[in-house]
Amino acid sequence: MVDVLLGLQWGDEGKGKIVDYLAPKYDVVARFQGGPNAGHTLIVDGKKIVLHTIPSGVLHGHIQNLIGNGVVLDPITFRMECERLKESGVDVKKNLSISRKAHLILPTHRVLDAASEASKGAGKIGSTLKGIGPTYMDKTGRNGLRIGDVLLPEFMHRYEALKQKHIHLVKQYDYEFDITVQEKEWMEAVEYLRGFTMVDGEYWMNEQIKAGKKILAEGAQGSMLDIDFGTYPFVTSSNTITASACTGLGIAPHHIKNVIGISKLYCTRVGSGPFPTELLDEVGENIRQVGREFGSTTGRPRRCGWIDLVALRYAIILNGVTELVITKADVLNDFVTINVCSQYDVDGDLTNQIPFDMTQVSVKPHYTVLSGWKSDVSTIRDKNLLPAPLCSLIDHISEQTNVKVSIVSTGPDRNQLVSW
Ligand code: GDP
Ligand code: IMO
Ligand code: MG
Repeated sequence: MVDVLLGLQWGDEGKGKIVDYLAPKYDVVARFQGGPNAGHTLIVDGKKIVLHTIPSGVLHGHIQNLIGNGVVLDPITFRMECERLKESGVDVKKNLSISRKAHLILPTHRVLDAASEASKGAGKIGSTLKGIGPTYMDKTGRNGLRIGDVLLPEFMHRYEALKQKHIHLVKQYDYEFDITVQEKEWMEAVEYLRGFTMVDGEYWMNEQIKAGKKILAEGAQGSMLDIDFGTYPFVTSSNTITASACTGLGIAPHHIKNVIGISKLYCTRVGSGPFPTELLDEVGENIRQVGREFGSTTGRPRRCGWIDLVALRYAIILNGVTELVITKADVLNDFVTINVCSQYDVDGDLTNQIPFDMTQVSVKPHYTVLSGWKSDVSTIRDKNLLPAPLCSLIDHISEQTNVKVSIVSTGPDRNQLVSW
């Protein structure tokens, strides 16, 4: 049995925290897409750990973790994550396996990412510059290097051939670079990677399912960054929706049971692209400061705005969400009223649908205004003790999306939440 947990907005919904909280119910946690563009924050007893490639079940000793074939892995970031975890007393090697079919991010992929972004000027995607786009391009272009390749005798030859291809490509951008230091670090990190358990992830996963193990598939990014259904071209380069758990792990759709969708009680986005409910005033700044909305991977300030039910309903149908987890309720503690976007006004017409290209039309959010609660909910663990306006707001979201809410998160720590 496989449950899928994923973000329903533009990423950073609090997936890491919720996976870490739910992990004790599972035997396996598996990442199925994305790479070090992700930053999943876990806070346990005040101690913060940010994971980029490693699944968020890693703090629980009994759990097996898998980096699936759909993931793109940068050995340098991977090694750094493992070493940081070791400093915190977590030996990842014992319970982490990596699919041989996951793709490798090369130093020149990062150069290509930076060169492509620089060439776009004001039209840039706002990529994390981790080499994600170029690596997925090499995967679909059938040029990529995979994790399993690092054990082949001709690995260095293949690496060199791909690097030369990249150097040739960078020439079109007129972009200066020097990867001497990164390349040395990368080679050392590849050697480090060779010490990890590599598996044919699809067989591995299906054996776990057959053995009756409970599996949680952990998404990265969010549905509005999906390569097909997100705000293209301001998206990431992988499918971030439930379907991607099948292709990114090698499992059949009928094995998937629950789909746990995560949304903040407001909305954020980091990088460029449409964001209809964005608040460019002091209200947005207040959310950013109180919610500490700065990127876990790049440190960039996140753009903040009101919750967007048009986008949320869209994400729910794309993913088949069976339960909602609402995070960061505590961030709105001090608000007198809270806006909820129920519809869009697109060029004067009210609609419940996301327009084909939001950059080509005028999209204005149509708001329902609800009462705030003006009190601190961060220490409350019992639903019955929560202020009535917060309960009404959560019930409103549940009614408007037609999906039950299972958890409301009231702070960054693992235990700061209320079961619904
Ligand atoms: P992810 O990428 O979806 O795992 O989310 P990130 O870790 O990038 O960003 C979420 C941020 O919000 C992290 O700093 C979390 O520690 C924090 N966080 C998660 N849930 C809550 C919550 O309910 N309240 C508050 N205040 N912070 C939260
Ligand atoms: P998690 O898993 C938020 C955004 C980038 C940029 C766009 C493309 O932590 O939620 P990319 O580097 O993928 O080519 O960048 O996608 N982005 C994220 N935003 N959270 C993430 O991951 C993100 N991963 C990518 O900011 O706008
Ligand atoms: Mg994040």
